[in-house]
Amino acid sequence: MPHAPFGSCLPSIPRAFTRRLAAGAALSALMIGGALTSPAHAQIALEAEMSARATAAAVPPTPSVPGPWMNTKLSPDERARLLESQLTLDERIGMLHGIMALPYKIEGLPDGVVWSAGYIPGVPRLGIPALRETDASLGVATPHRLRPDGATGLPAGLAIAATWSPELAYQGGAMVGDEATRKGFNVLLGGGVNLTREARNGRNFEYLGEDPLLAGTLAGQAIRGTQDQHIVATVKHFAINSQESSRRAVSAVIDEAPLRESDLLAFQFAIEAGKPGSVMCSYNRVNGPWACDSDFLLNKVLKGDWAYPGWVMSDWGATPALSAVTNGLDQQSGEQIDREVFFDKPLKAAVEGGQIPAARVSDMVRRILRSLFATGVFDVKAPTGPIDFQAHADITRTVAEQGIVLLKNRGDVLPFTKGKRIAVIGGLADVGVLSGGGSSQVLAADGPNHDYKNGAFVHIGGTGELVHISDAVYQPDAPLKAIEGKAGKDNVFFADGRYVSESVAAAKDADIAIVFATQWNIEGQDVPDLSLPQGQDAVIAAVAAANPNTIVVLETGGPVAMPWLDKVAGVVEAWYPGTRGGQAIANVLFGDVNPSGHLPITFPKDESQLPSPVLAGFYERDRTKLIDAHYPEKSDVGYRWYAAKGLTPLFPFGYGLSYTTFAQGGLKAAAGTKAGEAMKISFTVTNTGKRAGQDVGQVYLVSGPQGNRTRLLGFGRVDLKPGEKKTVSVSVDPRLLADFDAQAHEWKVAAGSYTVALGSDALSLGEKQTVTLKAQTLKP
Ligand code: BGC
Repeated sequence: MPHAPFGSCLPSIPRAFTRRLAAGAALSALMIGGALTSPAHAQIALEAEMSARATAAAVPPTPSVPGPWMNTKLSPDERARLLESQLTLDERIGMLHGIMALPYKIEGLPDGVVWSAGYIPGVPRLGIPALRETDASLGVATPHRLRPDGATGLPAGLAIAATWSPELAYQGGAMVGDEATRKGFNVLLGGGVNLTREARNGRNFEYLGEDPLLAGTLAGQAIRGTQDQHIVATVKHFAINSQESSRRAVSAVIDEAPLRESDLLAFQFAIEAGKPGSVMCSYNRVNGPWACDSDFLLNKVLKGDWAYPGWVMSDWGATPALSAVTNGLDQQSGEQIDREVFFDKPLKAAVEGGQIPAARVSDMVRRILRSLFATGVFDVKAPTGPIDFQAHADITRTVAEQGIVLLKNRGDVLPFTKGKRIAVIGGLADVGVLSGGGSSQVLAADGPNHDYKNGAFVHIGGTGELVHISDAVYQPDAPLKAIEGKAGKDNVFFADGRYVSESVAAAKDADIAIVFATQWNIEGQDVPDLSLPQGQDAVIAAVAAANPNTIVVLETGGPVAMPWLDKVAGVVEAWYPGTRGGQAIANVLFGDVNPSGHLPITFPKDESQLPSPVLAGFYERDRTKLIDAHYPEKSDVGYRWYAAKGLTPLFPFGYGLSYTTFAQGGLKAAAGTKAGEAMKISFTVTNTGKRAGQDVGQVYLVSGPQGNRTRLLGFGRVDLKPGEKKTVSVSVDPRLLADFDAQAHEWKVAAGSYTVALGSDALSLGEKQTVTLKAQTLKP
């Protein structure tokens, strides 16, 4: 591996902290789970510290203090104004910066602080609660295995996006919000919506794909679900944090118009639908300035054009200078990783010296208070009582089932019929299902968590104190067990896939061979190319040559190339399928669930099809060296690039098979009739097969007055019995038809003819309709 994960964010555990722990127990050694001179001693110290810092719920909430700001009839803005006016300058400043609540570069944690992503003290005399922050969109994360409590892990963001279901995104967000509040947190660092511009980005699994409408809609619903639990959600990482390589040095170079039409549009949709209390600015630079010190991004776009009323927090250690205050950043997070705690003493001195107006500091604080009022953190008592893990297991399993994408099914090899002998090969399918690493890592409540014995943590390699942060975590729901449960133990046998010869022998012995293939991704690190690592392509090719009924189940954090595609009978993309992923996979393979996921990203044939075949900075060892990343695709992210260049990918955006068949038709399109609606479109979907199933109807723009142009305009997921027909109605947002005019500072819908088409994916377009629209301009 060329780089340590996380870059400079989480390099090592401080020796000073280590020494301060009980009786000289070496926390760093505990955390890395290796090189212990006295493992038993160390384990005891860790467990004592862990139970002392178990969950924030153990800490009594700050009691509210009577005052006019507690009048729920007043608007959140008014309540924030009233409360903020009571604060001293020191109290204000205290709310504007906070620590990464982990034993790193810190002289111990304040009492009552649990190990988690972040902590910012409140003002108890006025009833202002401390901000207790936890990651992330896929579940309540357990940073560095430092807390003993587990959580329900949702499938990867890409799996959520593959459901194309705003309802499931909402339910997932609500589930994470419920677990976070029951654990005592009031800020969730969840709501990731960066577009998949770079197929090799190590964090693609956290996000919702390559299309602004799909990603923005689902992120908005997830945020809504979370905040309905009375906890602040955080849309992130603002903006164009498209790669992890040199993430704290790279500048995304892109003109304003394409930026507005793509990445920023995804944020805009998410913020409009979800109204997140906070926005996290990203590590990278955008056209030069740091995203967290960008007047353009924070003041002009977010707070100016979009009138965003909440607060902007920095990513952890991403505050570059005090100038960020003036440029729109409201809170410095993970401050011990920054060069200086700019938002503490330097800010106070600048206010007292008149360089920064006191009114700006009040604005920063009001924004935080406003979000706490708007989401009900002040007014609604956090739920107590245990988490309903059973109900949440059903949610995560359903998301996985609906997000699994059937990519190939030659001769209807799937679903399996009973009585077959099945060889299950590779992917640690006997242990569990893979999950993505980094700050979003969830450890299962019913999993091994801190127990190293049963092999659910796989050491990927490398050295150093925090090396086990980069262990690959397998959620303990083994597909092998679920398959045995359906096919009968005697009909199933396992080969671990390490040796080609052994895998081939297993495949020859069976009616069906299922190869589980994994590609592990982690925050802080991109993948060098699109191949499956560790020789898995060779295993698949050899197994496919030995058994014509070979099925590949992929657990990947993004697209992979499939040099063996023609040789295998079936391919199932299961992503990282979450806490109940093993069961979800088996349910799809055996037909208890009819697959209905559709790709939220394009699968390229190989790197040569990517807009940037060479990933900027991947092999740069000095991760502080300033580099640029260019985006030749401009606003044509993902499938739009392939359409514009006439490239045929391996699998297009929107693609996904079913065990039944569907017909889409009856396309009607007309000019919109209400504000914010450019066009009204409807069409029907009919289940023409013999099984009940769900389909995702998609409608695309194919040409406009400016020429050919492909863009998703709307979609609808329908559940249909055999023979059943349903109508899908779509209201098209004018920004999807418009160009952004940076000079005039507005969206422009050109007058003329727009042709739209029904699609079962971005390449397979059916019926078309043309609509004539009048010119229209819209505010940014
Ligand atoms: C990540 C954020 C995360 C933060 C706190 C950073 O490394 O980029 O997504 O919320 O850490 O854990």
